[in-house]
Amino acid sequence: ALEKKIVKSKMGGTIGLPCCHEIPDSESLDNYRVYWQKNTHPTEVVLAYAQGKKIFENKQYDNRTEMDTRNFTLWLHRVEILDNGAYRCIVQDVSSPQNAHVVCDKSVTLFVTADFSNPKITAEVSANSCESTEMMVTCSSHGGFPKPKISGVFNNESMVWNDSSVSKSSLSLYNITAQGWLSVTKDTNFTCSVEYNGFARSTSLLLRKTNDCIVPVVSPPSNVITASSIIICIFLLAVTLAARYLPRHTCSHCCKPQDSVEDGVKECLKPPMSSNVTSETSSV
Ligand SMILES: *[C@@H]1O[C@H](CO)[C@@H](O)[C@H](O)[C@H]1NC(C)=O
Ligand SMILES: *[C@@H]1O[C@H](CO)[C@@H](O)[C@H](O)[C@H]1NC(C)=O
Ligand SMILES: *[C@@H]1O[C@H](CO)[C@@H](O)[C@H](O)[C@H]1NC(C)=O
Ligand SMILES: *[C@@H]1O[C@H](CO)[C@@H](O)[C@H](O)[C@H]1NC(C)=O
Ligand SMILES: *[C@@H]1O[C@H](CO)[C@@H](O)[C@H](O)[C@H]1NC(C)=O
Ligand SMILES: *[C@@H]1O[C@H](CO)[C@@H](O)[C@H](O)[C@H]1NC(C)=O
Repeated sequence: ALEKKIVKSKMGGTIGLPCCHEIPDSESLDNYRVYWQKNTHPTEVVLAYAQGKKIFENKQYDNRTEMDTRNFTLWLHRVEILDNGAYRCIVQDVSSPQNAHVVCDKSVTLFVTADFSNPKITAEVSANSCESTEMMVTCSSHGGFPKPKISGVFNNESMVWNDSSVSKSSLSLYNITAQGWLSVTKDTNFTCSVEYNGFARSTSLLLRKTNDCIVPVVSPPSNVITASSIIICIFLLAVTLAARYLPRHTCSHCCKPQDSVEDGVKECLKPPMSSNVTSETSSV
C-alpha cells in the first residue's frame, strides 16, 4: 500500500520522517533491509540498512541523516531548503532468504519553511487636504520560504496593491514587497500579513490623518481674539469711567460739609481730620 503523509519542518531544525514498520521485540534489525530514498529524477538513495548495518549513506546529506533502528524513522538534522520534497521508505523482511518480501512502502513529503522577518510598514504622505491624507504604503518582509502571499487590511478591507517577490532560485529564500495607495480620512490601523506554508507573520501600524484644515483651524482663535478684545475694551472703558467719576462722587459725599446726609456722616469722620492736617500744614 502506498500511503502519503506530509511533514513540515523549519529550516535549520531537526525533523523525523516516519516510516511504516516497527520491529517487534522478538526480532532484530538483522532481519530487515531498509531503504530511504528521495523521489528525485533519478531517484536517489539517502540511507540504506542491511544485516543490521548501515550499507549506504548519501554524502550529499553531510552526516545530517540518522535512522531509528526500531521504527526506521529517518531523522534529518539542520534541515535545508534543498531537503524539500517527497521521500520514500521501503522495508523488506529478509529473515528467510527464500521468502524475502516487502513489509511496507511509504511516501512522506517534507515541506521546509523558513520564517519571514516581521513585515515592515512604511507610509509616505503624498498629498494632504482637510478631508484626507493620501499616502503610499509599502510593506516588506525578507528571508523566508516558500514563496509567500502578502496582504494588507485597512478599514477592515483588503488592500488592492502591487506585490513582487524575489529569490535567487525556486529553492532559495524569498524577499517580498508590496506597495499601494491609501486615502486616510481618520486615524486608522493598517495591518500587513505575510503567509507561507500555513504560517503567518503580521504587523500593524496606526496611519494618522494629518490635520491640514487651514480655514477651520485658524478661524476659532480669531473669533476668540475678537471677543476677548471687545471684552477688554469694555472693561478698560468701564475702569476709565469709574476712575474719572467715582473719586469725585465719593469726595462730594465726604469732603463737602454742606452735604450732611445721614448715611455720609460716619464715612466722613476721617476726611475732616485730614482736612485739619492739611489746614495745619497750610497754616505752617
Ligand atoms: C520512532 O521512535 C522514535 C524514538 O523512539 C520516536 O520519537 C518516533 O516518534 C517514532 N516514530 C514512529 C513513526 O513511531
Ligand atoms: C561525518 O561523520 C564522519 C564520521 O563520524 C566524520 O569523520 C566527518 O567529519 C563528518 N562530516 C561532517 C561534514 O560533519
Ligand atoms: C470586518 O468584516 C467582517 C466581514 O467582512 C465582519 O464580520 C466584521 O464585523 C467587520 N469588523 C468591523 C470592525 O467592521
Ligand atoms: C501597480 O503597478 C502598475 C504598473 O507598474 C501600475 O500601473 C498600477 O498603478 C499599480 N497599482 C497600484 C495599486 O499601485
Ligand atoms: C533579500 O533581502 C536581504 C536583506 O534585506 C538581502 O540581503 C538579500 O540580498 C535579498 N535577497 C534577494 C534575492 O533580493
Ligand atoms: C490599532 O491596533 C492596536 C493594536 O492592535 C490597538 O491597540 C489600537 O487600539 C488600534 N487603533 C485603532 C485606531 O484602531
